[in-house]
Amino acid sequence: MYLLQKATQLTVDRDTLTDLYAYPATDAGTCHVRANMVTSLDGAAAADGLSAGLGGDGDKQVFGLLRDLTDVVLVGSATVTQEGYGPIDPEGDDPSITTLAIVSGSLHLDADQDAVTAASTVVLTHEGAPADRRARLVEAGATLLDCGTDDVDLHRALAHLADRGRTRVLCEGGPGLLAALFADDLVDELCLTTGPTLIGGDAGRITHGDTGGTRRLRRAHVLADDEGFLFTRWVRGERGESTAASDDN
Ligand SMILES: NC(=O)c1ccc[n+]([C@@H]2O[C@H](COP(=O)([O-])OP(=O)(O)OC[C@H]3O[C@@H](n4cnc5c(N)ncnc54)[C@H](OP(=O)(O)O)[C@@H]3O)[C@@H](O)[C@H]2O)c1
Repeated sequence: MYLLQKATQLTVDRDTLTDLYAYPATDAGTCHVRANMVTSLDGAAAADGLSAGLGGDGDKQVFGLLRDLTDVVLVGSATVTQEGYGPIDPEGDDPSITTLAIVSGSLHLDADQDAVTAASTVVLTHEGAPADRRARLVEAGATLLDCGTDDVDLHRALAHLADRGRTRVLCEGGPGLLAALFADDLVDELCLTTGPTLIGGDAGRITHGDTGGTRRLRRAHVLADDEGFLFTRWVRGERGESTAASDDN
């Protein structure tokens, strides 16, 4: 455990943080899926419908670093809409390099939202998505990739990203998408910030829906700052080892 005191920012230097959050090498064409989420002390994944009220300066620092380290941010449609996502700038000058992937079966996305239509964004959907919404988004400039017949097959979604060379994946939620990724055993690690606040109310947790049973992850590190935030990283045992809890756990 690393205890970082007397600072509102994490006091480990950027190089050390970068080492702590480095993506492992993967087989060619295989994605490594990291999820990054924030929660209150009592488990809320949103405050007044947004995650922003749960974090602090250290969380912003880790959030920014994780974006810097990833090839592509993967996010559910509701989070894109509710959190007002903007496009994610591609590294280098090529705007067609995919940096944001939005999962949406309904295509109930705002064609006027830049994050949806940017050249660096792909919308991962399916063949059965409503034709009128598909046409409207394509006309607005969105890039749609079908990943299934009647629903979004997340394995196929990740294969599309790997085909584009985007194998270091950062899932920023929300809870519905994260649960579905766990259910398909596609989450390699979870970075979780826990803030020192009690929210109460009926806010949901960081997963919502079927996760495919109880999951057990291995703690990789714990960081702290003196604002009371904890920054944890949880990983699978070995590459390919399921995060599902086995009988002997
Ligand atoms: N605490 C945190 O770290 C954090 C992070 C992110 C978001 N949030 C909060 O979470 C809330 C939004 O999360 P949410 O759970 O409602 O939605 P979400 O996970 O952002 O998006 C869920 C949507 O993803 C699409 N989807 C398509 N195929 C899917 C599949 N196979 N599995 C799962 N989803 C699929 C569906 O969109 P269609 O309906 O278009 O088909 C589904 O409605 C907001 O309040 C946001 O502030 C919190």
